[in-house]
Parts: sequence; structure tokens; C-alpha cells
Amino acid sequence: MNDETMTYDYSVVRLFALSTIVLGVFGMMIGVLIASQMAWPVLNFDTPWLSFGRLRPLHTNTVIFGFGGSALFATSYYVVQRTCHTRLFAPALAKFTFYGWMLVIACAAITLPLGYTSSKEYAELEWPIDILLTIVWLSYAVVFFGTIAKRRVSHIYVANWFFGSFILTVAMLHVVNSAALPVSFLKSYSVYSGVQDAMVQWWYGHNAVGFFLTAGFLGIMYYFIPKQAGRPVYSYRLSVVHFWSLSFTYIWAGPHHLHYTALPDWTQSLGMAFSLILLAPSWGGMINGVMTLSGAWGKLRTDPILKFLIVSVSFYGMSTFEGPMMAIKTVNALSHYTDWTIGHVHSGALGWVAMVSIGAMYFLIPKLFNTKIYSEKLIETHFWIATIGIVLYITSMWISGIMQGLMWRAINSDGTLTYSFVESVQAMHPFYIIRTGGGALFLMGMFIMAYNIVKTVMQGKSVPAVIPEPQVAH
Ligand code: HEM
Ligand code: HEM
Repeated sequence: MNDETMTYDYSVVRLFALSTIVLGVFGMMIGVLIASQMAWPVLNFDTPWLSFGRLRPLHTNTVIFGFGGSALFATSYYVVQRTCHTRLFAPALAKFTFYGWMLVIACAAITLPLGYTSSKEYAELEWPIDILLTIVWLSYAVVFFGTIAKRRVSHIYVANWFFGSFILTVAMLHVVNSAALPVSFLKSYSVYSGVQDAMVQWWYGHNAVGFFLTAGFLGIMYYFIPKQAGRPVYSYRLSVVHFWSLSFTYIWAGPHHLHYTALPDWTQSLGMAFSLILLAPSWGGMINGVMTLSGAWGKLRTDPILKFLIVSVSFYGMSTFEGPMMAIKTVNALSHYTDWTIGHVHSGALGWVAMVSIGAMYFLIPKLFNTKIYSEKLIETHFWIATIGIVLYITSMWISGIMQGLMWRAINSDGTLTYSFVESVQAMHPFYIIRTGGGALFLMGMFIMAYNIVKTVMQGKSVPAVIPEPQVAH
């Protein structure tokens, strides 16, 4: 086969792109269910495997690893081939990563509702599943870095740096945090104990946010915004500074999850200081993403995919401003344990992670099936429904969270508490209903997307794209 007839390997990209949508719908359906359970507890149906406590980790695992993970696999496999002008290294291993990853998600969907959990947040899966996950992840690293190694252009585009750091760091975090002693087939105990366990867990948890929910999606931003806008990245130099400063700073900020705990005080203050510093690289990246549109702002009016991508970067900016503020100890004294955290999480998760993934999928899927999107109008509808949904979700959680924090700390002149706990629960009720409505809107948008994509795939065919000659700009 000579260079001119060499084609990209899209088969595994297609599988991951479609699973992004299926698992997005599934994970968000559970999200709406658990949101409804908080508004109407009767929806727990007195059934253990339908209860909030068991479905909540199923929600987080399905949306983060199922939906977000599939989006990251799909886009990284696509981008690394396109920017390196070569086919995927070890295509059979790449296929294995798809089936292996789906098996991990299926195991999560069975074991979590049954109550099997390591009890570490975002790392709940028990040890046999952890081992499977490690094998799949190492295979992913082999495929990704193998493709980089056999690239036919000398330059490594910045999106690949972000994808690469995400893959390496998640491998390290997962292996260190999941170290455990099994006592039976589905029960193990962490090798760490007490405050060390908490520290390792939140070093993992915070960097799962930093590298799984941020670095990988920044890789998406750096490829798909320039492509969709038809403009080069605003500042390539800034993107490199962004990469190194973000990677260096994130890794120290974990202790902000453990303010006012038994963790040594200096460690908490260090976490707070690094969280504040993190504002700079985060905003540098955000500005780089948004400014890529300079000279093409007009496209925002007419291009709904670009709307998804640019609004996602704006939410990224918002949540990375809010995060450092919440990391300040005195602010955290109010926000911790309240719905404010949940609002912050979903401005990042829905506003940034989901919106950028959705934009990338609308760009990607028609290309993978060699066709045009079935309906641009439906993308526009999806965009507005999703945006209104997010705004309802996060504003209701801000109000509810700050109200909770203030009610819990209110003290009468004689030193007694002004409000009982149940009064704060009653006060939150209307906001839980609004949050459920916002979530339901966002989910409705996902259904519209699923319909649009099914129609698109049905009208397309899986013709592979030809790899251009080396040195030709991509
Ligand atoms: C229809 C959309 C969604 C709805 C209705 C929804 C709803 C919920 C609810 C009710 C909770 C539990 C909150 C609590 O314990 O008080 C939750 C937690 C969480 N969700 Fe979602 N969610 C949605 C989408 C997403 C997406 C797309 C992601 C990630 C990409 C995500 C990530 C999370 C995380 C990380 C938590 C745990 C937060 C924490 O422990 O502080 N959610 N979600
Ligand atoms: C500069 C960036 C950021 C900083 C400094 C930051 C800081 C924080 C802080 C202080 C908390 C509250 C910890 C607590 O009181 O328990 C928190 C929670 C959280 N943040 Fe961020 N945040 C940032 C960006 C983001 C982004 C972009 C996302 C999502 C994509 C995100 C996802 C989360 C999640 C999931 C939690 C809840 C963790 C849990 O308790 O389960 N954060 N963050």
C-alpha cells in the first residue's frame, strides 16, 4: 500500500463516538432519577438497589468514565491519527480497549447497585474490576504513544500533549489510589489508613478532575475549536505554557478537599495556595480557546457546533474561577458539605465536559460516516435546551448551597442554633425541584442528539478517509 492510498483507522473511533451518546443518555437518566429522589424521596421505592446511595456512584461512574471516557477515547484516537498523519498503532489492541472499557462500565452497572464498593469516591469499583481497568488503560497508552512514535510529521501537536498527560497521569493515579488488600472476590481494604488514606484519595480525586475531566477535554478544545472555526489556535506559545503550568500546578491542589480535617494544617494551606495559582493557567487556556475565534466571531451566530464549543470554554472559565474561590479556607467553611459544591461540579461537568464533548461529537460523527449532519436545526434546539438546563441546575444549587451554609452556621444570641437541620432540608426542597427540571431539560437535549445522530448515521456510510502526504498541513 503506498502513502496515497493509506487510510485512517476510524472503526474504533466510530464505536467510541456512538458509545459516548448511549452512555451519556444512560448516565444522565440516572442523574435525573437521583435528582428526583432528592426532591421526592418516595422514588427510592424502598428498594436497596434503587436507592440514592447506590445509584449516585452509578451516575458518577457512567457519566465520567462511560460518557466522558468514551468521548476522550474517540477524540484522542481520531486526533492522534489526523495530526500524526498515520494509522493507529496496534489496531487490534485499540479494539480491545473499546470492548474492555465497555466491560468495565457493565461491571460498574452491575456491582454498584448491588452495593459492592470500595467506598472511595470516583474509585468505587472493587479490585477485580480495577485490575481489568488497569489492563485496558495500559493498552490505551500503548496504542496512543505507539501512534505518536510512528508519526510521519516531526511536530507533536499540542492536543496530543494534553491527551498524553491525561493518559499517563490517570494511570498513575488509578494504580496508587486503588492499591488494596482483597479479603474476598468482591471485597478489599485500602492499603492506606486514616488521614493518609484521605490524602491519597483526594490526591486521586482532585487530579481525576484535573486530568480526566480537564486535560483530556483541553485536548479536545485545542483540536476541535480551530477546526470548526477554520482558524489557527490564537497563540500556540500560550498553549505550550498552558500545558506545562497546568500539569505542574494541578497535582498539588488536592488537599483543598480536606480543609478543616485531621490533615496537617500546612498541607491544607499548601493545597489552597496551589488552587489559587491554578486560576492563572486555567484562564490562560480559556482565553486561548475563546480568542481562537478572533476574526471569525460572526460564525458564532450561525454555527451551532461552534456555540457548543465556545460556551463550553466559557463554563470552563467560570468553574475554574469558582474552584479557586471555594478552595480559600474561609469560603470553604461555608461551601463544604453544601449544594454549592454540587453546583460547581455540574458547571464543570455539564457546562464544560458535556458541552465540549457534544460539540466534538457533532463535528466528528458525520465525518466518520462520510456524510453531513441530518439536521442543523436540531443541533441549535439542543444547544438552547441544554444551556437553559445548565443555568437552572447551577443557579438553583448555588442558592440552595449558600442558604444551607448560612442556615447551618446561624446562631442566636444565647449561642443556640437558629435553625434545626430539618428546617434547612425543607428550605432546599423548591431548589431540588428546579434542579430536577434543569437536569430533565439537559437530558431531553441528549435525546434530541441521539435522534439526530441515528438519522445521520443511517444516511452515511463508513468510508475511510485518505491520509495526506507527510508535511501537508492538516
Ligand atoms: C442530566 C444531567 C445530570 C443530572 C440531572 C445530574 C444530577 C446529579 C445529582 C442529583 C447528583 C447528586 C448530588 C448530591 O449528592 O447532592 C450528582 C452528582 C454528581 N454528578 Fe451529576 N448530573 C447530571 C450530569 C452529570 C454529568 C454529565 C457529569 C460529568 C461529566 C456529572 C458528574 C457528577 C459528579 C462528579 C457528581 C458528584 C458530585 C460530588 O460528589 O460533589 N453529572 N449529579
Ligand atoms: C482551577 C480549577 C479548580 C479548582 C481550584 C477547584 C476547586 C474545588 C474545590 C475547592 C472544591 C470543593 C471541595 C470541598 O469542599 O469538598 C471542588 C469540588 C469539585 N470540583 Fe472543582 N475546582 C476546579 C475546577 C473544576 C472543574 C473544571 C471541574 C469539572 C470538570 C471540577 C469538578 C469538581 C468536582 C467533581 C468536585 C467535587 C468533589 C467531591 O467532593 O466529590 N472542578 N473543586
